[in-house]
Amino acid sequence: MPIISSPHEFNVEDIYLDLRRVNGTPLYLKCEGFNFAGSIKLKAAIAMVEAAERDGLIGPDSVLVESSSGNLGIALAIIAADRGYRFVCVTDPRCNSTTQRLMRSLGADVRVITTQDANLGYLNSRIQYVRDLCASSDRYVWLNQYANPNNWRAHYEHTAPAIAAEFPDLEVLFVGAGTTGTLMGCARYFRQHRADVTVVGVDAVGSVTFGGVPERRVVPGLGTSTRPELVDESCIHDVVHVSEPDTIRTCREMAARGFVLGGSTGTVVSGAARWLAEKYPGEDPVAVAISPDLGERYLNSIYDDLWLREHFGQGDLSTDPHWSPHP
Ligand SMILES: Cc1ncc(COP(=O)(O)O)c(C=O)c1O
Repeated sequence: MPIISSPHEFNVEDIYLDLRRVNGTPLYLKCEGFNFAGSIKLKAAIAMVEAAERDGLIGPDSVLVESSSGNLGIALAIIAADRGYRFVCVTDPRCNSTTQRLMRSLGADVRVITTQDANLGYLNSRIQYVRDLCASSDRYVWLNQYANPNNWRAHYEHTAPAIAAEFPDLEVLFVGAGTTGTLMGCARYFRQHRADVTVVGVDAVGSVTFGGVPERRVVPGLGTSTRPELVDESCIHDVVHVSEPDTIRTCREMAARGFVLGGSTGTVVSGAARWLAEKYPGEDPVAVAISPDLGERYLNSIYDDLWLREHFGQGDLSTDPHWSPHP
């Protein structure tokens, strides 16, 4: 019987979902949504806070501050509540109201920035707000997930070795790219320890992380409007870009089979399915993808028919739960 006294001590991360029976994709999905923060960002959050503690950056008057579209904010709010720190989360209107309420219920001070930046996102505006806050007083400690090496190290030390241990024959790993902490940590681990594994980054169409033209995006999860400092393309083998309609279609396909997963999981699974069909036609390589969170945070967006119609019209985004026969 596991007994814990801090929320981050509980994290069930050894569950892999075989997608063959779910939507026909020859892929094992590592589910990272089963912890008190509800996402993979718990690992980056604890790694960054513990490193700041070790480095003596956090004192009795400190206020932690971070720019987050939601999941890291929730994880930091949990850790701050557990350790008695104050925490300011700088977010934007794409962060759903339940997430904002959850952070507030944990005692976080949530600031919603509504000014869009030149790349049609909010990231620059959020970061400028954080910079201004830090310039106003040295009480503020910005963990800076976009540049903090402890973000990727969390995955180098935990996520990647866990996958390598479970899949000694692994051939391909798919990782979604937000800050690219998960992607860079896994890519560096496999390059050093299992160089035969192909690591593929998955990003949203309209994200600028790997170059390309910025486009308006409405699905919360992956992608950036400002290239994160952590990105190092030399560590990865390939990148796939997935459109928002494909992300939504894939999320709904999996939900129709009983697995309500987060938006970025739909992006990663859609990109992986396309990449595998193209690179391994008719073959069945050992492939794993990472699912960063579950779907409840997306009930007002991806899984809401009215939201879907508002943003995508009737289109071809079928919401028919019987979209395909059971294999
Ligand atoms: C739902 C979800 N998926 C994917 C990611 C991307 O993870 P990373 O920042 O490690 O690239 C995030 C990051 O916030 C996320 O919240």
